[in-house]
Amino acid sequence: MIKEKQETKGDIRNTAYKTVVDMVFGKTGIPNAKKVLREIYLMAKDFVGRKSTGKAYFVESRYKGSERLIQEKGIKQVIELGAGFSPHALNLQANVENYIEVDLPRNSQNKERIIKKIAPDLKVYYVGGDIFKEDTWKSIESKLIGTPTTIFGEGFMQYTDPEQRAFLAVQIKRILNRTGGLWFFEDSLTFHTEFAQNQEIRAMSEMMVQKSGNSQLLQHISQKSLENELRNYGFKVERIPAPTDLETPELDELGKRTLKQFKHWVLTPKEKNGN
Ligand SMILES: C[S@@+](CC[C@H](N)C(=O)[O-])C[C@H]1O[C@@H](n2cnc3c(N)ncnc32)[C@H](O)[C@@H]1O
Repeated sequence: MIKEKQETKGDIRNTAYKTVVDMVFGKTGIPNAKKVLREIYLMAKDFVGRKSTGKAYFVESRYKGSERLIQEKGIKQVIELGAGFSPHALNLQANVENYIEVDLPRNSQNKERIIKKIAPDLKVYYVGGDIFKEDTWKSIESKLIGTPTTIFGEGFMQYTDPEQRAFLAVQIKRILNRTGGLWFFEDSLTFHTEFAQNQEIRAMSEMMVQKSGNSQLLQHISQKSLENELRNYGFKVERIPAPTDLETPELDELGKRTLKQFKHWVLTPKEKNGN
């Protein structure tokens, strides 16, 4: 997705700050987001804004979708891909025994520093590395315990291309075949060709492309194509509705219409006989 390089303003790592700004200024009520953002400001105040995108419902809906699934399934081990500065590990500590976060080294180190300040006793493994490198997965695997695993990433899959998804599928299948569990990611505008031409939505995607320096967001893929792709990688595909019972006052008519069409992706490896 991106290569480790000097931190600059237009870098996908900085999209991680943006989502916490949405959590707080979009008034999503996500616990601990304010505490994390306060620390981000101390660290990087020069390029972290104080205004939400106006569409904080995307962040809130995916955040709640992930936590509900983890809680409902009672899964005790989590691997969070591209965790950024999300406060999931803090907010799920009563549910999860073994929490592993993965992000590019600088984000990962900064996150560890922040969380240690807020919650010195919270046990999380911070794996700093490129998710598209085998070594990073070796490091993740060395931290696993023998219990079913939820592997999820928010604000991440829509930046991937088919080659990267194929790589991820191999790594994730190996782990899930060993521990059991599931792979979860949120539905996104990139996976809905019908939104590609909506002006307001396109403007937001273009802004994110600029911020991230990654144009994959505008390479729309249809629901059917993505489903077929994931099946071909050896996964059973289940879909669950995106949460719409949100706190953010930014949930307008466009937001409601969009989220109503979103179905988050829940994947489990097919059995050897193909079922
Ligand atoms: C849009 S942010 C989302 C952050 C967080 N999941 C959230 O929802 O607040 C994407 C995250 O993926 C991380 N990321 C991007 N490419 C990566 C890669 N190749 N390896 C590891 N992390 C990566 C970025 O550093 C960033 O933290």
